[in-house]
Amino acid sequence: MERNRLLIVDDETVIRDGLRRILERESYTVETCSSGFQAIEIMQQREFDLIITDLKMPGMSGMEVLKSVRTLQPNTPVILITGYASIDTAVEAMKNGASDYISKPFAPDILLEKVLNALNQRCMYVEDASLKDEVSLHHGFHQFIGESKEMQKVYHRIKLVAATNSTVLITGESGTGKELAARAIHDNSPRKEHPFVAVDCSSLAETLLESELFGHVKGSFTGAIQTKTGLFKVADGGTLFLDEVSNISISTQAKLLRVLQERKITPIGGTQLVPIDIHLVAATNKNLKTMVHEGLFREDLFFRLNIIPIELPPLRDRKQDIPILIRHFLKKYTAEIGKEIRGVAPDVMSFLENHSFPGNVRELENMIERAVVLAEGDIIRNEDLELWDSNDTKPLCLIERVPMNVEELKEMKRHIRDHAMESLEGVFVRNALERNGWNVTKAAEETGILRPNFQGMMKKLGISARGEH
Ligand SMILES: Nc1ncnc2c1ncn2[C@@H]1O[C@H](COP(=O)(O)OP(=O)(O)OP(=O)(O)O)[C@@H](O)[C@H]1O
Ligand SMILES: [Mg+2]
Repeated sequence: MERNRLLIVDDETVIRDGLRRILERESYTVETCSSGFQAIEIMQQREFDLIITDLKMPGMSGMEVLKSVRTLQPNTPVILITGYASIDTAVEAMKNGASDYISKPFAPDILLEKVLNALNQRCMYVEDASLKDEVSLHHGFHQFIGESKEMQKVYHRIKLVAATNSTVLITGESGTGKELAARAIHDNSPRKEHPFVAVDCSSLAETLLESELFGHVKGSFTGAIQTKTGLFKVADGGTLFLDEVSNISISTQAKLLRVLQERKITPIGGTQLVPIDIHLVAATNKNLKTMVHEGLFREDLFFRLNIIPIELPPLRDRKQDIPILIRHFLKKYTAEIGKEIRGVAPDVMSFLENHSFPGNVRELENMIERAVVLAEGDIIRNEDLELWDSNDTKPLCLIERVPMNVEELKEMKRHIRDHAMESLEGVFVRNALERNGWNVTKAAEETGILRPNFQGMMKKLGISARGEH
């Protein structure tokens, strides 16, 4: 029989070693660590059958460890170790899902009995969970499409974290659905009737970002004509989504850390501490850990944000989701554009299934949208599928079938010429829009084209003024 794996979290070496000795004597596999932050790192890598954590620890309390376990390894029971004085807290912890608690000092046989009980409890949970999984197989979740194992894990974690108030860090490459995940957390949470406020931390200069987040008092700096409510306050009762959090400057990071620790903000130029009640969700496509090593991101803030990590897998690692995503986007864009398209040609399908999608789901979505616009028949063919690099700024190649005779050769040359022309126009228009923040008037002005003509080109090319992408 496989041995049970236990994780012990305690800042005191004596207790850690004591527990380890008692438990190893009973043939349990024991791992130890000295802080809640370390425990979270370890739990992201390995599953445990039981976690024993001290309640009172500097930095992160056992209660916070408990909440993280409920999300990271929901079936794993937790036993809390308390000092005599904190029995009340222990009772509170049991309400929060702890299996049991043990107060210091404890006798080895009492400890072992509690461990055995908790492990038996786990067996019951595991059976329950496997039943539930069988019933709830689905194509997607919320606005997510995808039924791969990798995405099921993401949905599961979103559901769990939505029920808690623990800070979430969403990571993943561009276009993998980080914003979608943040919204899904909000919409599935008890806070859903309250605001969901998204802040793009990369789009604002340092001082502006601070006044956006914390607010300012009238006259606190030049330009502060009126008192402004910070987004932390606007999001009160709801969810605050800090997108591209890696772009926050070191000095703003320090302020953010304080807010997360105190759950209070001080508007710029203000003196009063304002309490806030938000669920904080942050996202980044950078590797924050590397940034910590490079001294670009505060380690303590990283730990504070990374309480519950959610990693969105790149599309190339879950290729089985590609066909249903194609079906989904075909349905969406045929309805939107008002065309009847039955599906994609087999060679297009096999191309898409083998494409590496550096721009992930967003790239696939844009491809299908373009193809639906360009398609002349009721099926998406190779030539409808212009390929662009992930920034949408230049065509990568035009895929064509190989001509079999001179007539076909001529015909295809003409087709490629026309097509290339259209691609060139597409690049030209897209780039102009991109440079001007998708402002059509400015883009037309810069390129020296009358606005209506510019709009005509956009329409012909199937480019809509979305302001994003
Ligand atoms: N699994 C999915 N199912 C359906 N649509 C998806 C999925 N993942 C992403 N999308 C769509 O792809 C686009 C990009 O998603 P989103 O904006 O959430 O990505 P992101 O990870 O925030 O990207 P970036 O890092 O570039 O900001 C959106 O239009 C979104 O609706
Ligand atoms: Mg995003």
